[in-house]
Amino acid sequence: MAESIHIPDSTDRAAVYAALLPQIEALISDEPDLTANLANVAAVLREAFGFFWVGFYINREGELVLGPFQGPLACTRIAFGKGVCGTAAAKQETVLVPDVDAFPGHIACSSLSKSEIVVPLVAAGETKFILDVDSDLLDDFHKADREGLEAVMALLKSRHYPES
Ligand code: SME
Repeated sequence: MAESIHIPDSTDRAAVYAALLPQIEALISDEPDLTANLANVAAVLREAFGFFWVGFYINREGELVLGPFQGPLACTRIAFGKGVCGTAAAKQETVLVPDVDAFPGHIACSSLSKSEIVVPLVAAGETKFILDVDSDLLDDFHKADREGLEAVMALLKSRHYPES
């Protein structure tokens, strides 16, 4: 597998996502193991954008359990419907929160987290896992992040749930 990834030196996030997507696709195409791929995707996203926290929560019998991540210590279990992660998992849609203090029920794993975006991966009607990205800046996530992170999750879906 490729042992390094080229990250463009640009502040245009859409351009950075566009450069990363084919590299992520190549990276995960070589490896069948889901945990290994989630770990590397978390690493690539954190390295590319310097986000405060990037990671996955996996659906384990109806509860979200902490998976591979990059960043500070995090909460290990989140119920469907709770917090930003549980809301995205239950609604099966991306949830973008410009100010976490204004989101009722936000789960503060760290008081430094100010804005957040969560993208679920839904296959055969079930939320399999979610991608959670936290920033220590207010209002740090916009259309480019939503589209870029949804595209990353689409790659993971076609790699790991190709039938759905
Ligand atoms: N803030 C999230 C919890 C997960 S951590 O941020 C890593 C939430 O409200 O679901």
